[in-house]
Amino acid sequence: MDSPTLSRLHIHHVRNLQQVDLEGLRRVNVFYGRNGSGKTSILEAIHLLGMARSFRGSIKSLISHGSTQTTVFGEILPGKLPLGIRRELTGEVKLKIGGEPVRTVAAMAEQLPLQVINADSFDLLTGAPAARRQYLDWGVFHVEHRFFDQWQRFQRGIKQRNMLLRRGKLPAEELAVWTRDVASCGEAITSYRKAYFKLLEPRFLAIMEKLSPSLTGLELRFRQGWDKQISYELALENSEPSDREQGYTHVGPQRADIRVLIDGHVAADTLSRGQQKLVVCGLKLAQGQLLSEKGRGMCTYLVDDLPSELDEQHSTLICQQLADMKAQVFITCVHRRDLAGVWPEAEEEEFAMFHVEHGGVSTAESR
Ligand SMILES: Nc1ncnc2c1ncn2[C@@H]1O[C@H](COP(=O)(O)OP(=O)(O)OP(=O)(O)O)[C@@H](O)[C@H]1O
Ligand SMILES: [Mg+2]
Repeated sequence: MDSPTLSRLHIHHVRNLQQVDLEGLRRVNVFYGRNGSGKTSILEAIHLLGMARSFRGSIKSLISHGSTQTTVFGEILPGKLPLGIRRELTGEVKLKIGGEPVRTVAAMAEQLPLQVINADSFDLLTGAPAARRQYLDWGVFHVEHRFFDQWQRFQRGIKQRNMLLRRGKLPAEELAVWTRDVASCGEAITSYRKAYFKLLEPRFLAIMEKLSPSLTGLELRFRQGWDKQISYELALENSEPSDREQGYTHVGPQRADIRVLIDGHVAADTLSRGQQKLVVCGLKLAQGQLLSEKGRGMCTYLVDDLPSELDEQHSTLICQQLADMKAQVFITCVHRRDLAGVWPEAEEEEFAMFHVEHGGVSTAESR
C-alpha cells in the first residue's frame, strides 16, 4: 500500500487559525513563525482530522474563541480521498470519509495514521501506563485488523462486569457470563499485543543504535496485566473475592504496560530528559517502520518543537531517520533556516515551507 499523504488541508476555527487553506503540501512541510503565530495549532488541526481530538488540552480549548464549532478537511493521496471532521462546542462530532458519514474515529485513524513528537513526548516514558497501552494499541490496531473488534468487546465486557461488581448482591450466573466474555477477548487482545511487541522491540533497538549508540543496555518488557504463568480466566477467578470487595476488575489487559529498562534499571528514573526524549522518538519511529514493513504504508509524523531537550546532533539523527523512512512530516520551527542544519540536504525538493503569522499561513520560497 502507498503511504497516505496529505496533499491539501482546510482548517476553520482551530485556535487562532480562523480560515487556513494549505495546498501544495509535500513530504516535508515546515511551518515557521514567531511564538504564538499558530504553528502548533496547524499540527493540532491535522491531529483532529486523524484522531478526532487534540494532543494538548481539551477539544473545547481548541475551538477558536467566539466560534461554536471547528472544521478540518484534508485530501489524501493516492486517490485524493477526502477526510472531514466537524466538532461542535456541545461535543457533537461529525466524521466523513469520501463525503460519506462514518461512525468511528477508528475509520479516520485507519486512513491517516499519525504519530506526534513534541516537547511532552517523554511523558510516554515517565507518565502513567495508560499512555503506553495507548501507544502499543495504536500499533496493534494498524497492523492487526481483528484487534479493534476484540478490544471494543473487551471494553464493553469489563464495563458490564465492573457494574455488576459494584452492585451489592451479585447474581452469580450473570457475573460468570461476563467473566467468560472478558476472559476470551482479554486473551485475544493480549495475544495480538504480544505478537506486535515481539516485532517492535528489535526495530526499536536498531533505531536506538542509530539515534544514540552510546545508550547501550536498553530493553523493553511487556507486562500483560496478570500473572503470565496462568490463563486470564484463572486469574479472574483468583481475583474474584477482591474484585467483589472493591467493586472492579483488578487483573487483565486494562493493566498492561511496557517497561523500558536500561542495564536492568527503570529508564524513566535513570535517563536524562534528552535521553528520555530520544527513547520516546525511538519508540515512535519504530512503530512507523513496522507499519510500513507490514505493508500498511508509512504514518505521518507531526513534529513540534523538535529541539526542546535535544542537542543539534540528536535532532539531526531523528530527521535523518524520518527522511530515510520516507515519512510525510509536518514540522515546526521559529526561524525559516532553523532546519537547514538538521534536515538532510539531499531532501531539498521534498520541502514545502510555510510562514505562519498571526493565524495566517503563506507559502514561502523553499530553503
Ligand atoms: N481557543 C482559542 N481561540 C483563539 N486563539 C487561541 C485559542 N487557543 C489558543 N489561542 C492562541 O492561538 C495562538 C497560536 O498558538 P500556537 O500554540 O499554535 O502557537 P505557536 O506558533 O505554536 O507558538 P510557539 O512558538 O510559542 O509554540 C496563540 O496566540 C494562542 O494564544
Ligand atoms: Mg508551538
